[in-house]
Amino acid sequence: MIFITGDTHREQDIAKINPDDKFPLGKQLTADDYLIICGDFGCIWDGGKGDAFWLNWLESLPWQTCFIDGNHENFTLLKEYPVETWHGGKVHRIRSNIVHLMRGEYFDIDGHTFFTFGGGASHDVQYRVANVNWWQCELPTKEEMDHAIETLQAHNWKVDYVLTHDIYQSHPLTRRFVLDINNYDAPYFDIQMFLEKIAAKLDYKAWLHGHYHEDGYYIRDGKPTIVLFHKIITLDGIDILRNEWK
Ligand SMILES: [Fe+2]
Repeated sequence: MIFITGDTHREQDIAKINPDDKFPLGKQLTADDYLIICGDFGCIWDGGKGDAFWLNWLESLPWQTCFIDGNHENFTLLKEYPVETWHGGKVHRIRSNIVHLMRGEYFDIDGHTFFTFGGGASHDVQYRVANVNWWQCELPTKEEMDHAIETLQAHNWKVDYVLTHDIYQSHPLTRRFVLDINNYDAPYFDIQMFLEKIAAKLDYKAWLHGHYHEDGYYIRDGKPTIVLFHKIITLDGIDILRNEWK
């Protein structure tokens, strides 16, 4: 089975996936189960003992952990991991059962298809230091956007689930913080505008994302867009959420 949740931020919010804490169901899972984190994984951050502790702990869990990148990842370290093809798309292999689902990729997991596009805009850039705890490549490059478009064209603009960290520009949550593209150099682009273009053209069942640190259910063109933070949901449970969360 596939489980999906929002930002974990390493030790800060990872208790929600701890089988000994808030996720007792996790004890029953196996290597055939997947838990996907919609960005701000955070466990590749200091490259030292802190990361090692949490990656060792995650590797000890029975399921496979997958994550897309958010805007709180150490991208310098993340890009050093080896790239491999996994379930039809490109991943960074982090540990034996931990993978980073790269931007603009298409995966077939357990009979469901996923399009992934991590990254997002930080709203506290003024308090952070470039390449120490903030990376401009939290926003996409033209090459990454072109790759995503090529991937979607190759699949006739049809997928079951979209997984992103930030969300398309017309979503009401984007009003919460202003994405100031002036904080970034020329090679980087507005991710919300890019996701808006994709949303307008893509045929999908549901869009799942993180970044806004709340759980919620929105409708766009009759299709659900689900923001995740505290909750862990299953794909089977999406229809139930419509009544529970609206
Ligand atoms: Fe976050």
